[in-house]
Amino acid sequence: MEERLVEDFITYLTNATRNKTIYPSGHPIIMRSLMRTFEILETLLEEKEEINIAVIGDELIFEGMHLHEISTALYGFTRDLRQREIEKITFLKGLKNEEFLGLIDVLSMAQEKLKNSGGPIKVLASKGVKNVVLGKIGALKEAQPEPGHGEEFKAKAKEFYKNAVEAIKKIVEDIKFKKRVNIEKARFAINSMVASIQRNRTPLITLASLKAHDEYTFSHAVNVAVLTLVQGEALGLDRQTLNDLGIAALLHDMGKLKVPEEILKKPGKLTSEEFELIKLHPADGAKILMNTPGISKLAYVVTFEHHIKYDLSGYPVVSRGKGGLNLGSMLVRIADTYDAMRSNRYYAKEIPPEKTIKEMEESSGKEFEPVLLRKFIRLIGVYPPGTFVRLDTEEIGFVFQTNPSDPYRPRVKIVIDSNGSKIEKPQEINLEEKVPETGNFRRSIKESVDPEQFGLVPDEYM
Ligand SMILES: [Fe+2]
Ligand SMILES: [Fe+2]
Repeated sequence: MEERLVEDFITYLTNATRNKTIYPSGHPIIMRSLMRTFEILETLLEEKEEINIAVIGDELIFEGMHLHEISTALYGFTRDLRQREIEKITFLKGLKNEEFLGLIDVLSMAQEKLKNSGGPIKVLASKGVKNVVLGKIGALKEAQPEPGHGEEFKAKAKEFYKNAVEAIKKIVEDIKFKKRVNIEKARFAINSMVASIQRNRTPLITLASLKAHDEYTFSHAVNVAVLTLVQGEALGLDRQTLNDLGIAALLHDMGKLKVPEEILKKPGKLTSEEFELIKLHPADGAKILMNTPGISKLAYVVTFEHHIKYDLSGYPVVSRGKGGLNLGSMLVRIADTYDAMRSNRYYAKEIPPEKTIKEMEESSGKEFEPVLLRKFIRLIGVYPPGTFVRLDTEEIGFVFQTNPSDPYRPRVKIVIDSNGSKIEKPQEINLEEKVPETGNFRRSIKESVDPEQFGLVPDEYM
């Protein structure tokens, strides 16, 4: 799809809704913008069955295209949509001019009035509009339960993961020894991870949850890349944006190379002077990346913003008037926080997945963008693939797949029976399964457990 056309469409649409509140309806200025917008939309719908626009934070995603570059100008428009609780607009083929005007009415209606009339979906329906659908972002591209994946595919995912670890190791060395940084290897690793996730996200999520425990620095960088890409893919972002986003996620902590190692590896609480030094790493990292050839702007924006919270607190300190964070920064922040809490760090032990999710949910809307956090939890589940769990039957299971409909009820392989004996050929079960007579769930998860405690080797079950 032509970017220019998309930009024009959004600009005209924004103008039309804005002017509508200034001029009386039917005014030539409004009609001109509206007609032009509708014409573009018709052209776009010639090629496609539907056109999707989604609002995330302060940004617009148009058919998977990330409109960050022009979105500063769209700040008012995205805010209007957000205030009306519209996360997504879908235009369907066959859209008529009257229907389009009906949408404009809804978008330019005073908030109070819209609320009192039953909300945007109801008002739109009352106007007889059928080819414009308003909705929630979760429906943009819902995570599907995926078919089982073959051995070969899992082996490939392992190879891509390893490639990414090696790539980041090399970059860290180059930066440390002030050599010219070559990001080709990293680019290759990220490209193959994107392709892998587009086919089936489970193997890489499994690796990310298994590797959270070792060699923190490198596996952390790769895990953040995996968990960021999984989110971006589910939002329907295009391939180029995903590749750039993966590089950004992989390199988000490069600024830490400037922080003295004693501080990074300090087991106890940091003094405020030490913390001040840690706080420099986002800006330092952005500076390093700006001077690295082949790095997109997205990577240094994300690096700079990855410790700024959704409510704009955190560090570095930014002015509150500037509009919101980049979508990429919000995705990386979720992935980064999650993986850090799940990992053994010098100053804290790993936190179980269910507790990590609970703590993050408590900060929804403050630290994290709520729609994105909700979606993240649905994607990876409360017990992500790769987790060992104790069931209420006292059996021990290995989670091998998430159920998008219920993050608490994944699919598991039973690896230890209720008497504590290891099962040679693990049975696969779906925790959404109910007993027909009672309507109760057959099995539920009590808690996640450490496989070592049972002498289990995670790799055997992947
Ligand atoms: Fe960081
Ligand atoms: Fe990090």
